Amino acid sequence: VSVQGMPVQVRADSSASAGPKSGSSTFKVAVLGAAGGIGQPLSLLIKMSPFVSELRLYDIANVKGVAADLSHCNTPAQVSAYTGAGELAGALKDVDLVIIPAGVPRKPGMTRDDLFNINAGIVRSLVEAVADHCPNALINIISNPVNSTVPIAAEVLKAKGVYDPKKVFGVTTLDVVRANTFVAQKKNLRLIDVNVPVIGGHAGITILPLLSKTKPTVEFMPEEVEELTVRIQNAGTEVVEAKAGAGSATLSMAYAAARFAESCMRGLDGDSDVYECAYVQSEVTDLPFFATTVKLGKKGVEEIVGEDLSGLTEYEKKAVEALKAELKGSIEKGVQFANKQA
Ligand code: NAD
Ligand code: LMR
Repeated sequence: VSVQGMPVQVRADSSASAGPKSGSSTFKVAVLGAAGGIGQPLSLLIKMSPFVSELRLYDIANVKGVAADLSHCNTPAQVSAYTGAGELAGALKDVDLVIIPAGVPRKPGMTRDDLFNINAGIVRSLVEAVADHCPNALINIISNPVNSTVPIAAEVLKAKGVYDPKKVFGVTTLDVVRANTFVAQKKNLRLIDVNVPVIGGHAGITILPLLSKTKPTVEFMPEEVEELTVRIQNAGTEVVEAKAGAGSATLSMAYAAARFAESCMRGLDGDSDVYECAYVQSEVTDLPFFATTVKLGKKGVEEIVGEDLSGLTEYEKKAVEALKAELKGSIEKGVQFANKQA
């Protein structure tokens, strides 16, 4: 399935669309951090989407050239560039979807949490501007550590009186993309058919692939479960080490973020069959934020699919308990940061 050449796989068992279908809507999208390693290929993929009428590119540097370059592609989205805090309002005014890959990436030896000191402040100030200029937009947060930056965004929006938990997403699609790829390779399955839900959060052991819920149904030996789980959890580090100081995943992330953005827009457009895993405010556990499958609709999250957490194997149940302590700490760290700074 493709959207003007862009492969889209929203859900293994649902038909992906080739563009606006239900409501035939098009949307205004802003990418904040658009000149970066993720921002550039992501903006290209968004430019290819028939759902997009306007693509606003914002960065603190180098964005005018990226926009000039992209604007020559003969797809309908109109591209414009915004540089520096003084132009942020213009980038955000009336947009439907804001995607945030702004911030520093890891180098070998770092955890995602090591990025907190720089990226927490970047996300806080960008989300403040979102609250002021497009409070009704869906927000897709890519900047790490996602486990903390999403709670920061929620607190900022609350402080501004515009928080809608249905509209704030931590993008964990890359974990699903990786899980699907690694499982298909291991089990010789057709990639396009495979869907592995990945729950929890987006760092180390908080990334939990539910291999027992792989579609199509497939049997795993205990050692395969261990090997695949660890590989999926460490896949980001695999890329960081391979890039040897030149950053983290950018191309696969752009692909994953474009898929998630496309799913958000399909939901906004009224498609009634759009499901993705995402890190959102949730009541499926005793933690305030948790990634599970969510149904996307006209107002963002339409339903949180709690059944992800039923019928787990013993291995998965233990892993859920183990990840909660780390995830709780990351959430609290984000909340404290946002409230201290407010
Ligand atoms: P990068 O350094 O290549 O690009 C980041 C961009 O952000 C740069 O262009 C920079 O100028 C811009 N920027 C910095 N501060 C800004 C601000 N205040 N406003 C607007 N733009 C600003 O980094 P990258 O490889 O694109 O990674 C970006 C972030 O995405 C990192 O935090 C990384 O850890 C994260 N990431 C998340 C996932 C995920 O699965 N959620 C996957 C990969 C990377
Ligand atoms: C990833 O999973 O690739 C990203 O979170 C980037 C990283 O630091 O690993």
